[in-house]
Amino acid sequence: MEERDPDEDARRLAAESLAGGDATGWFERLYAESETDGAIVPWDSRSPHPLLVEWASGQRLAGRGWRAMVVGCGLGDDAEYVSGLGYDTVAFDVSESAVRLAKERFPGSRVHYRAADLLEPPAEWRQAFDVVVEIMTVQALPEELHAAAIASVAAFVRPGGTLLVIASAREEGGPVFAPPWPLTPSEIESFAADGLVAVRVEQLRARERHRCRATFHRPAP
Ligand SMILES: C[S@@+](CC[C@H](N)C(=O)[O-])C[C@H]1O[C@@H](n2cnc3c(N)ncnc32)[C@H](O)[C@@H]1O
Repeated sequence: MEERDPDEDARRLAAESLAGGDATGWFERLYAESETDGAIVPWDSRSPHPLLVEWASGQRLAGRGWRAMVVGCGLGDDAEYVSGLGYDTVAFDVSESAVRLAKERFPGSRVHYRAADLLEPPAEWRQAFDVVVEIMTVQALPEELHAAAIASVAAFVRPGGTLLVIASAREEGGPVFAPPWPLTPSEIESFAADGLVAVRVEQLRARERHRCRATFHRPAP
């Protein structure tokens, strides 16, 4: 049998959605169709992101009552991993189907899964998390929405807290074959606004692939 292009369904649905001026509607359609029509969710690896796992191995353990937020959680693998590190974890996605499927995949989960839009997050999430994990969500939005999405992610970090960003990356002004819209060095730097400071920014290049892993900290007053 001929192998299917894993990006084909996402590309088709994104094109339709973006042509209609809807930046995020295709995620819901893709997750829903993955259930009903076997559409392929190309980022669904059924495991936590290796760069998250590697990063976490160098961190101190979660303290009692520490809270984590996983942005754009998709089918829940990163959220379950972060929860397993001992954090009281909230994970959200704009797609209600993704959230439902994550809950179904992990019936005994301690993660609080929510459907929510990064561009209009609940007010009670502001500066409410000790660790915030953002993996490939900002880049999934059109470039003109990046600044608002980045500000929204950064605002989740409480004083004394840490933000981890893992994203596809490109050079300043480098080509984009969207989606996704990989993050430029200045976009990565812009997470360090509103009181956050950059701790470490790694530009990771392997063959054709360019990714960035960056850590930020909000100093306690
Ligand atoms: C490229 S996928 C990455 C999923 C997951 N973070 C991972 O690394 O496997 C982007 C995810 O962000 C979600 N998403 C896109 N726009 C969003 C928004 N405005 N608010 C919340 N989630 C969003 C999508 O539904 C999708 O699950």
